[in-house]
Amino acid sequence: MPNTLKCLALSASPRRDGNTALLARLALGACAEAGCDVEFLYLVDFRYEPCRACEGCYATGRCVVPDDAGVLYEKILAADRLIFAAPVFSMGICAQAKVFIDRAQQFWAAKYLLGRRVIEEGRPERRGIFISCAGTTLPGVFEGTVRVARYFFKMLEIKLQASLCYAGVEKRGEIFNNRAALEETVAQGRLLAL
Ligand SMILES: Cc1cc2nc3c(=O)[nH]c(=O)nc-3n(C[C@H](O)[C@H](O)[C@H](O)COP(=O)(O)O)c2cc1C
Repeated sequence: MPNTLKCLALSASPRRDGNTALLARLALGACAEAGCDVEFLYLVDFRYEPCRACEGCYATGRCVVPDDAGVLYEKILAADRLIFAAPVFSMGICAQAKVFIDRAQQFWAAKYLLGRRVIEEGRPERRGIFISCAGTTLPGVFEGTVRVARYFFKMLEIKLQASLCYAGVEKRGEIFNNRAALEETVAQGRLLAL
């Protein structure tokens, strides 16, 4: 019997049950229906500080700051699939996500300074999806967000299966009016389970 795939969803918006969180739950639900073990977490329920640039991780590839970022990164390392959801704030990724992502500098150090893999040799490919929403439909509104997300997934050695970005979604729950977005998100959630 193959091992059940573990899928972790991290929702970075401070707005609980906001648009990105709703989409993350939808993708995760599809993943669960397809047989994965799933866990959904809000970053706002955890306490983590910004990177101190102390270079403490340069010698070991592990962050020396003892806070909840360590707990969350252990969960990410243990997961086979990742759903990361974060809205556009001030034309970039929301601060809760950015602060957390900066703490992945330890994996940059492991890879590029110490020449180590983040994931053990022989482990099957890990995959994930990035989800974002923006209130406006300005050209390039997701450029910054997607760029940071791509970097994040690369540092974690997780293949980015899709970036699902939906513009013109401002109020909480407004994403429910976008049927195509909901369908695409469910389809991508199902794909994650394969
Ligand atoms: C502090 C703040 C800054 C925002 N900045 C932008 C922005 O620069 N561009 C934009 O299109 N929408 C912006 N928005 C709107 C959000 O991207 C939009 O409401 C989105 O649906 C929020 O997702 P959530 O419900 O998952 O939090 C901003 C919202 C907040 C609260």
